[in-house]
Amino acid sequence: MEIPPFELERWLDEYEPDADLMLAESGVRSLPVDRFDLDVGELGYVIPTDGEPAFRAEIAERYGRDAEEVVLTCGTQEADYLTFMSLLDEGDHSVVVSPTYQSLASVPESIGEVTEVRTEPPTWELSVDAVAEAMRPDTRLVVLTNPSNPTGKYLGPETMRALYDLVADEDAYLLVDEVYRMLADDPHAPAAALGPRAISAAGVSKSYGMAGARVGWVVADAEIAEGVRRWKDYTTISPPLVGSHLARQALGEQEDDILEANRAHAKANRECVADFLDRHGLEWFEPTGVNGFPTVPDGFENGKEFCRSVFDAESVVLAPGEVFGHPDRFRIGFGLHTEELEEGLDRIGRHIEAER
Ligand SMILES: Cc1ncc(COP(=O)(O)O)c(C=O)c1O
Repeated sequence: MEIPPFELERWLDEYEPDADLMLAESGVRSLPVDRFDLDVGELGYVIPTDGEPAFRAEIAERYGRDAEEVVLTCGTQEADYLTFMSLLDEGDHSVVVSPTYQSLASVPESIGEVTEVRTEPPTWELSVDAVAEAMRPDTRLVVLTNPSNPTGKYLGPETMRALYDLVADEDAYLLVDEVYRMLADDPHAPAAALGPRAISAAGVSKSYGMAGARVGWVVADAEIAEGVRRWKDYTTISPPLVGSHLARQALGEQEDDILEANRAHAKANRECVADFLDRHGLEWFEPTGVNGFPTVPDGFENGKEFCRSVFDAESVVLAPGEVFGHPDRFRIGFGLHTEELEEGLDRIGRHIEAER
């Protein structure tokens, strides 16, 4: 099994440590830890190691599923990874909707075969017919992010229902990474609520501003969830104890406050970015969440050249569209503190104008 380098992570590793401003972070700005109770008692494993039963039951309720169908993980990344390991055998075929977060294509590709279904600007709408065409008799899995990273497209309930019906009719599974879902002003029902053939992966990193808690989860039918548990013993054994304690508070008594503040913050920052793009003649699809995927300004060859020159001239990090298969675009993460965002946009604007 061979896995390619994670291009976005490699890019960030190269540029983030020395940068003044980070406009390539995909989540909402991080919450301070002192708003939570931190007393976990002793620093042991979480027992049982798929998560505290009461916490699993609380998460299951959100999806209309049983607690046995929920496994708590170390972040959404592990939730996705373990789902692939549980579901796919060597050579199995998957359909992946793009552009997407790299692991959602690279992991299934390292195990079997992947057919990409591209969504395109300006609307990034998914054609369910295109997915139907890409599916084969041996297709085991259809994968997407909703809302999308990097485009911020949030597919509506009708599209998701049609996609689910297609996938279920073919006896395949639908895996939807929903880590950005709670940043939508009015999130529609999660994928796992569509039926037994849908799997939701999510966590607290992006919508809640708690990436350091490293808490995610998979919601899947009993057979797939059992496979996730089996693989988990070989990766991280237990979800993080401290992170779970924080995440439970964030999903409990603090949830309304956190989400209301994060959505208002995302909205205000989205408006700043929309104004900035307007002023500089750049196009984007107005995203759900805190990532947008605008066009590269005239005068720059491609995403990498633009992002490198912004970093060299102004010490601001952006993510080039190349890492998502779109060299004519760049991804801007606007979840950071508003003053930092404004400073970053001023610097990028100055650079664009200087190069013109
Ligand atoms: C779609 C998607 N899934 C998962 C992750 C990783 O999330 P976590 O920090 O919860 O592991 C990211 C991070 O950017 C992401 O964009």
